[in-house]
Amino acid sequence: ETKRWNIQTKQPDERAIAEAASLLQNGYTVSFPTETVYGLGADATNASAVSGIFQAKGRPEDNPLIAHVASKGQLQNLISALPPVAEKLLDTFTPGPLTLVLSSNGACAANVTAGLDSIGIRIPEHPVAQSLLRACDRPIAAPSANLSGKPSPTTGEHVWADLEGKIAGLIDAGPTGVGVESTVVDCTQEIPVILRPGGITKEQLEETVGTVMADPALAGMADSPKAPGMKYTHYAPEIPMYLVAGAPAKLQTAIDRASRNEKRVGVLASTQTAEQLHSARIIPLGEDLHAVAAAIYDALRLFKDGDADVILCEAFPKEGIGRAIMNRLEKAATRYLPD
Ligand code: TXA
Ligand code: MG
Repeated sequence: ETKRWNIQTKQPDERAIAEAASLLQNGYTVSFPTETVYGLGADATNASAVSGIFQAKGRPEDNPLIAHVASKGQLQNLISALPPVAEKLLDTFTPGPLTLVLSSNGACAANVTAGLDSIGIRIPEHPVAQSLLRACDRPIAAPSANLSGKPSPTTGEHVWADLEGKIAGLIDAGPTGVGVESTVVDCTQEIPVILRPGGITKEQLEETVGTVMADPALAGMADSPKAPGMKYTHYAPEIPMYLVAGAPAKLQTAIDRASRNEKRVGVLASTQTAEQLHSARIIPLGEDLHAVAAAIYDALRLFKDGDADVILCEAFPKEGIGRAIMNRLEKAATRYLPD
């Protein structure tokens, strides 16, 4: 049975935090909010506690976890070196939606880093995460608290739907805020490399440390179909989703074409685009890219099998936080619709 605490973000209930911290200290898994998404936490120094995370999520063990700490001092206890560029990023953007990959000193259990000699570390800003980490007084390993393959959770409800009965506790403090995960930056080389775009944008990073590279693997699916048979297993909605560039005109054409083929179409689009479309089922995601980021994972969970046959989603500009949004949508979607 999963214990659930419903608390306020601004003044986290001290008893709930103490109970949750005690579960974590005793080797159990507890989900908690950060300003990006909910995490599924376990004591990062306890290998069997950490393996509870992989079990609950059904996550492959070769995908390393992020260690969460409350402060720069705690971060320094986990690494063998803090290069000047990493320190600058740390001082500028944390606490916040940034994860730094640094050389590990082996203080965390080996299954946190999947055996790598580097470790991803984040200092979250969310008051509940901060209080919990302080109360635990140790690093907490935490991936996003979704079943592997599903959209990341931005509300306690999402976590409950995926993990109730599989984890010891859930601290529910409502919606998270940023809505997409932290930016993961590898700082083990001379020039920082973005491994995953997220809440801190490439533009922000470059303003602080100059040149930042993007991992070549982030190049994306382009406007061509994925290889046939390639399954979507990340952030996947219940029904197939296609991305459509050129909203609103091309999106409307695609809606009409699918409707003529007797498909019930669910549409995800910015509020401005949504206002110009004719369709029975539209979820407006908000007026700017920050609002879209905050709304996107919830929206990906909204169209269930039975509500619609197919989702058509607006393709957003790959700038600012749009890079993170499109990185996730390209993983979630089957492919772009050709013109
Ligand atoms: O916003 C977030 O980052 C959320 C909250 C809970 O903090 N966490 C999160 O964790 O998204 P997860 O496990 O879903 O994603 C962690 C990402 C993965 O892409 C993983 O491959 C990468 O970070 N990562 C972790 N440690 C790494 C390492 N040592 N080297 C390279 N990549 C690493
Ligand atoms: Mg995840």
